[in-house]
Amino acid sequence: MKKRIAIFISGRGSNMEAIIKNAQIGNLQEYCEIVLVFANTKEARGLQIAQEFGVQTAVIESKGKPRTDFDREIVALLEPLQIDYIVLAGYMRIVSPVLIERYRNRIINIHPADTALYQGAHAYQWAFDKKLATTKITVHLIDAGVDTGPVLAQREVDLQGAQSLAEVEQRGLRIEHGFYSEVLEKVFTGKIQ
Ligand code: GRF
Repeated sequence: MKKRIAIFISGRGSNMEAIIKNAQIGNLQEYCEIVLVFANTKEARGLQIAQEFGVQTAVIESKGKPRTDFDREIVALLEPLQIDYIVLAGYMRIVSPVLIERYRNRIINIHPADTALYQGAHAYQWAFDKKLATTKITVHLIDAGVDTGPVLAQREVDLQGAQSLAEVEQRGLRIEHGFYSEVLEKVFTGKIQ
């Protein structure tokens, strides 16, 4: 049985796009179906991309809402869709226990740094400012903290000679786009958990 996936985004959606492509005609094709792309703001540019790929989208505006109330609305939205895994891809809201408990160990995130060294936004900026020769992309399970959940896999990014933040980001995203789907395949086939 294919796993039923909801991807959560807040912005550009390049990781989402890579996962949708892999679910439609790539390494995830046999293992999952992208049932929904969800955004917490209608400004998320990825929504339009998802629609172009024929994926259903939904928006609930999070602005001004207490975290638990907002996550209760999400649980209600997802319930009829029988979602197996939530895949966060540039989702900029902290997830509350309401969602974590409903989807225990089934919410996955990609973080563009080693989560042991750097948590939160602007991780490529951090790597660039520190002039790191390498950084790590981390795919991890979500827990109640920010970028603190159990690590599923990490992959190194070579930053030697990167001259600008844009270049650091470009090198990192190139890895992210393939790596996230590789790890998801292992999760959906029970090779890692
Ligand atoms: C990525 O760098 C991802 O690792 C981080 O947020 C960024 C989202 O980019 N969590 P995109 O929306 O997938 O293009």
